[in-house]
Amino acid sequence: MNLKEFRQKYTPIIDEYLKSHLENDTDNQKFGQIMAYSVLAGGKRLRPLIFLSTLASLGKKITDREIQIASGIELIHTYSLIHDDLPAMDNDDYRRGKLTSHKKFGEAEAILAGDGLLTLGIEWISRASQNIKLVEIITQAVGPNGMVGGQYLDIDSTNNDSVKDDAEFIKKMEWLKTGCLLQASVQMAYVYAECQDQNQISALDKFAYAFGRSYQIYDDLVDLVETSEQAGKATHKDEQEGKNNTLTLYGANSSRQQLQELIDQGKNAVAIFDLPLLGEFFDLYQKVM
Ligand code: IPE
Ligand code: IPE
Ligand code: MG
Ligand code: MG
Ligand code: MG
Repeated sequence: MNLKEFRQKYTPIIDEYLKSHLENDTDNQKFGQIMAYSVLAGGKRLRPLIFLSTLASLGKKITDREIQIASGIELIHTYSLIHDDLPAMDNDDYRRGKLTSHKKFGEAEAILAGDGLLTLGIEWISRASQNIKLVEIITQAVGPNGMVGGQYLDIDSTNNDSVKDDAEFIKKMEWLKTGCLLQASVQMAYVYAECQDQNQISALDKFAYAFGRSYQIYDDLVDLVETSEQAGKATHKDEQEGKNNTLTLYGANSSRQQLQELIDQGKNAVAIFDLPLLGEFFDLYQKVM
């Protein structure tokens, strides 16, 4: 099975899981709908698909339990988007082709929807996996030494010329805010699958690094090359908002080169698996090359 077929099979299953559980499992129906709005607005479901693809690459069967873990990761990712868009952060009006949560429901509601999705995501992962190690991986990846820490560095460095040429700082910020959660989606899968093969683990670690590192470079290129309609969110705004990133530091050509190197590294690493799934995630980048 290739990634296209895999996506076509599992995206609707993930979406259905998210829809039925968000709408039915929240006591307050109105609040359930507020959370569901942002989750069901669209989105590529990249992190759950990476989790499931890693399982499939390791020959692990995918049942309802694995779908619940995958969906839990998506809840946590969606929380990060809702908060990232808030007026106090990136102040965005559109996300996934729709009004952002705070534009649609109000700021307090959006903050609470994010809080609800983060905690519910952790609940789903712990309930379905019954594995404290997975909870540790995900909470570390999105906590102060992970995504939230990276978002802090992003805010701290916005309109701050002192870091504009600081390549190490920018790399660290991008890794924390975006790379960590992608890496965790791979790690959770091989821990959950109880993989003991060091060759496979090392290949997956290399893939996770290459994809995690490259994804924010890709996203910053999306800001440069896509229209808002194509991206489903405002574009052409990072530079004018004073964001410092790989793109503003090195320019588009060098960023594309770095992206290509990471693609090659990542694809090579996972060539040991029978299924082509993981390597094919890099094909998404073609539209910005
Ligand atoms: C956007 O993530 C935010 C970043 C971490 C760069 P995605 O590009 O995965 O957004 P969706 O989930 O498809 O909306
Ligand atoms: C977001 O980075 C990273 C997150 C942790 C949400 P961006 O601010 O560049 O993401 P977009 O462009 O708004 O999706
Ligand atoms: Mg941001
Ligand atoms: Mg943003
Ligand atoms: Mg962006």
